[in-house]
Amino acid sequence: MTGGEGFTLVTGATKGIGRAITERLVARGERVVGIARSADASYPAPLLLADLADAQARRAVFAAVAARHPILRLVNNVGLNRMQPLAEITPEAYQDVLDTNLRVTLDATQAVLPAMREAGFGRIVNISSRSLLGRHGGSMYAAAKAALVGFTRSWALELASSGITVNCVAPGPVATEMFARNNPPELPRTKAMLAAVPVGRMGEPAEIAAAIDYFLSAEAGFTTGQTLFVCGGASISQVHL
Ligand SMILES: NC(=O)c1ccc[n+]([C@@H]2O[C@H](COP(=O)([O-])OP(=O)(O)OC[C@H]3O[C@@H](n4cnc5c(N)ncnc54)[C@H](OP(=O)(O)O)[C@@H]3O)[C@@H](O)[C@H]2O)c1
Repeated sequence: MTGGEGFTLVTGATKGIGRAITERLVARGERVVGIARSADASYPAPLLLADLADAQARRAVFAAVAARHPILRLVNNVGLNRMQPLAEITPEAYQDVLDTNLRVTLDATQAVLPAMREAGFGRIVNISSRSLLGRHGGSMYAAAKAALVGFTRSWALELASSGITVNCVAPGPVATEMFARNNPPELPRTKAMLAAVPVGRMGEPAEIAAAIDYFLSAEAGFTTGQTLFVCGGASISQVHL
């Protein structure tokens, strides 16, 4: 079983890392379906529109996509960060960051699980962050991204005998709109963070997509429950980001 007849579902698909993995798979002739909030005529695959932060909207879109396409690969890519120091964390940010990183991942995975179980094949890749190791001023994001590792390892155990692998990619700073929004270039903390990346540069979305691609591959069937840092060495640096 290689999953070749199935689709890959990418959440948060039209920009950044989601776009890069879509383009990589489509270039090889694989079938992809994406979800984002805004239409994008240049997206090279079927695109469903939904705000995944909205519980009703996401359950509806996940049900629709699972009914329409056999999803045998899932990239839980959409995420949200709100930089707030400990003393300033608001109840809204707490809920939004947990929901968009964790609840969306759970709901998407539950929606596609029946098709994977029926096929006896599945590949699930959760997109965490180097921030799971700790993020000054971003503890909600760090906590949510660390929890994705808990999901990954636990689901890997539960699904190992069903031909379904669950792995995690934890990127360091990557040049995307999300990064620019959360890390204005003029802020000292942004400069300090980039200076602390051992390879001396930000990552490109395509470099994250290459790692995701391995975990999605049929050949990765003996790899499950793993978290791969793709972070320019930031996860082993002695400097705290
Ligand atoms: N960039 C980094 O430095 C970095 C580092 C570590 C981890 N990550 C993680 O990587 C993942 C992707 O981040 P990125 O930097 O590639 O983001 P990005 O470039 O900002 O792209 C985000 C994508 O998700 C869609 N999206 C955002 N919110 C959505 C929502 N509520 N419902 C549906 N679609 C939504 C956006 O389209 P619409 O706006 O049209 O909805 C867009 O297609 C996230 O989980 C992030 O935490 C990023």
